[in-house]
Amino acid sequence: MKLLATSDLHLAHRANRDALSDVPPHGDDWLIVAGDIGERPEHLRLALEILTDRFARVIWTPGNHDLWCPPDDPTRTRGQARYDELVAICREFGALTPDDPYAPWPLDPDTVIVPMFLLFDYSFRPAHISRADALGWARESGVISGDELMLPFAPWPSREAWCRDRCDRTQARLDALPAGTRTILINHWPLRYDLARPPRVPRFSLWSGTTRTEDWGERYRARAVISGHLHMRTTLWRHGVRYDEVSLGYPRDWQADRGMAWYFREILPGRARDRDRYVPSVDPFLDRRLSGPSPIDRPSLVRDDEGA
Ligand SMILES: [Fe+2]
Ligand SMILES: [Fe+2]
Repeated sequence: MKLLATSDLHLAHRANRDALSDVPPHGDDWLIVAGDIGERPEHLRLALEILTDRFARVIWTPGNHDLWCPPDDPTRTRGQARYDELVAICREFGALTPDDPYAPWPLDPDTVIVPMFLLFDYSFRPAHISRADALGWARESGVISGDELMLPFAPWPSREAWCRDRCDRTQARLDALPAGTRTILINHWPLRYDLARPPRVPRFSLWSGTTRTEDWGERYRARAVISGHLHMRTTLWRHGVRYDEVSLGYPRDWQADRGMAWYFREILPGRARDRDRYVPSVDPFLDRRLSGPSPIDRPSLVRDDEGA
């Protein structure tokens, strides 16, 4: 029995849908799907039809793409209503959502699986850049996210307010865990600023998380912290905590001949081979040489600069 993880299935792409239908049965394994399944609720439904049939349990968190809605489309749910619609779909299929009780890992009940929906609040930026100047600062480098147009936040006054509410609720639940409980923390967006600056487009960090969660990995005794969003598959460590970016990504980000399941990362018990496959020889988020030739041609480092 294993705990596996993936994210960013982006099922609007036919190649990704085809690969999804070829995922083999996994017996009593559990699968984490950490957001960006697709832009439409039907994409989540399709993913769960297949994955709840092939896995004993599916754990879901939303990503920004799952919450997208064109500004002029009155027929689709928006903001909080979209999130609620997706949670309802998960419950139809028995998939675990951020709004459900945390599931103990059967092989070690002192470890709980914690899907989270924390959003972003533009705080992943240098100290000298004010919030008011942040979007201009990103645009200066040619970076803008589709979230600005496509991610409605009603009925919240702003994305920051929604993010604050999600963090408050989640933090209260984590604080209430029995002392000594270990966690598997799951969120579409990275929890730390130093894991949210893609080397080629560092200012994309604005749309990639919140500083509220910088120390959650240590504070909540994480055995692993799972995220996606950047389309940069890595396993990295910060202060002794392991961080797995587990995205599949767009068709250009992965090799179809391997099949989708090849990319499912083993989190528990965690084979050394799986870890090593994604541990880069140079930390792409910390090494200053990255302003020179990019390391992203390495097969294990794949990025997305079009708005993951
Ligand atoms: Fe994303
Ligand atoms: Fe994505």
